[in-house]
Amino acid sequence: MNDMWGTGDYKAVADKIATAGEQLVDRAGIEPGMEVLDVACGTGNATIPAAQLAARVTGLDFSPALLALARELGADAMVEVAWVEGDAQELPFEDASFDRVISCFGHMFAPDHRRTADEMRRVCRPEGRIAFACWTPEGKIGGMFRTLGELGPPPPEGFQSPLLWGTEDHVRDLLGDDVGFERHEVEWSEPSPEAYAAFMSNSFGPMIAAREQLGAIVDEVYLDWVREANEADDGTLRYRAEYLLAAAPRG
Ligand SMILES: C[S@@+](CC[C@H](N)C(=O)[O-])C[C@H]1O[C@@H](n2cnc3c(N)ncnc32)[C@H](O)[C@@H]1O
Repeated sequence: MNDMWGTGDYKAVADKIATAGEQLVDRAGIEPGMEVLDVACGTGNATIPAAQLAARVTGLDFSPALLALARELGADAMVEVAWVEGDAQELPFEDASFDRVISCFGHMFAPDHRRTADEMRRVCRPEGRIAFACWTPEGKIGGMFRTLGELGPPPPEGFQSPLLWGTEDHVRDLLGDDVGFERHEVEWSEPSPEAYAAFMSNSFGPMIAAREQLGAIVDEVYLDWVREANEADDGTLRYRAEYLLAAAPRG
């Protein structure tokens, strides 16, 4: 039931946002030998670059399918990573286990933000740091999640929008006033809006799940969104989406 993210071809989607994983790892201040946890690691977009810095890295995710792929990709990259199945809201680690706790567009999807933030702080050492990348509500991916979200029924009680993690006030509220923020963008360059919409429709687990629930309207609305997001006027697709990169002392 947790494997919505593991259906389709998330790795192909993740390849298009790989620069954000590298940027996050760069800003997290990871040094050789550090213990690092990547929360909601997916196929290892940030986990594998962190391990390439000779850190001792653990990647946690609740999708068995994505963890299986991550394990293969880590082996291909010849890095050692502990891949662990678990929930971001209930991290299966002792208090103060890690020097860095990071997440790349991952922990933002756990419904209870306070609980997730408290868990990330709990497993981080007192002198450690927490760093993550999250889509902003005003950026294009924020708009995409809102547009698709409006098609379905209202979210269940207690569900908090993932996009709140892309707002500075919310992050300060959860992690304190010492958080440093940067804004970056991911850029997409694709052969055409139609080809890209078809690719996402077949590859992106949340879209596949939404289509199963709501029907073809999901693909129609998504294609409209892609056309509207497009900055190119030569038949190709080019768009950029903003994300917030936050880094905080555990405190
Ligand atoms: C957009 S993907 C990001 C994956 C990866 N960090 C990356 O940069 O490509 C979101 C990931 O969050 C994971 N996820 C969502 N909610 C989770 C939770 N409560 N606990 C653990 N993993 C979760 C999904 O399985 C998926 O791998």
